[in-house]
Amino acid sequence: MEFNIAVIPGDGIGPEIVREAQKVLDQVGKKFGHTFHYTEVLMGGVSIDKTGVPLTEEALATAKASDAVLLGAVGGVVGKDSWYELPPNLRPEAGLLAIRKGLGLFANLRPAYLYKELKDACPLKEEIIGEDGFDMIIVRELTGGLYFGEHKTVNENGLETAYDELKYDESEIERIARKGFEIAMKRRKNVISVGKANVLDSSRLWNKVVARVAKEYPEVTLTEMLVDNCAMQLVKNPSQFDVILTENMFGDILSDEASMVTGSIGMLSSASLGEGKFGLYEPSHGAAPDIAGQNIANPIATILSAAMMLRYSCDLDQEADAVEAAVNKVLEEGFRTVDIMADGMDQVSCSEMGDLISKRI
Ligand code: IPM
Ligand code: MG
Repeated sequence: MEFNIAVIPGDGIGPEIVREAQKVLDQVGKKFGHTFHYTEVLMGGVSIDKTGVPLTEEALATAKASDAVLLGAVGGVVGKDSWYELPPNLRPEAGLLAIRKGLGLFANLRPAYLYKELKDACPLKEEIIGEDGFDMIIVRELTGGLYFGEHKTVNENGLETAYDELKYDESEIERIARKGFEIAMKRRKNVISVGKANVLDSSRLWNKVVARVAKEYPEVTLTEMLVDNCAMQLVKNPSQFDVILTENMFGDILSDEASMVTGSIGMLSSASLGEGKFGLYEPSHGAAPDIAGQNIANPIATILSAAMMLRYSCDLDQEADAVEAAVNKVLEEGFRTVDIMADGMDQVSCSEMGDLISKRI
């Protein structure tokens, strides 16, 4: 089969890690008889430098016309990169928000699980990790809430005053809830819905709508959890989580925490989906400008994101399995990038890691 993939290398380590994911995709193509056509799309700081804006209409249209989007990361350092002297709506991150919204990608799936080979990198105590480790997926709402409400800074009573609006309507909650339950049906049938219902109206509406949707999935156990408690439970008893269903901002925060308890944020993929097969695939981590250009970044999160792309947007389950198996194999054989390096292992660069994984497809 043939697929048109929009590739957004972005900033920082983005270009290095995306290159390795493409290497792996090309190997999948060779092995299984598919062709991936890539169109490079500008977004983030590089787009600001070339066009003055973080995402042009043309770039968005190119992404829209593709079968899927593969993204590295965007952003730089506040106080160092001149992009941050621009108004907030023209900074690199605004490109990311604009593409999510522009492509209707309301569901962000962020799996976080403990690789048995990387148990040593997990910062939690052995007795907390337990025998079986943990395996959860965060289903984060991605196009609503605080991120997309009205933002303004005004003068009130002589004081500079900032507003950020947090708004959800029931249709936005319903569609993400349905995604969460659908995913739970394919896993351990357990949804923990996270909010701040003891304080926020938006969380109370969230719970009401989620409970309504839950009736369509009688096999799935639904529990409500407050976000502060969830932050604690993630480090106290991570194996209780199967699907965490939550709104945009809480999902942003909890997914960083969940990824770190797995040992390395450099390992975790993500998929952002809308109603159909189309999706945007990116590592859960950021652009890491401090290590950019040194060929030491861990490309595995991006490679696993490409595997998610094969599964969700291309319907190529077997090929996705092959990529995931190749990653496991390389880890079993003891190869590590510096972020997950441990005693007795072989340290490899970003591009070497990509080569090793490709060769095992
Ligand atoms: C993420 C990132 C983004 C977000 C930033 C870069 C805007 O932290 O994808 O989690 O907050 O969604
Ligand atoms: Mg984040």
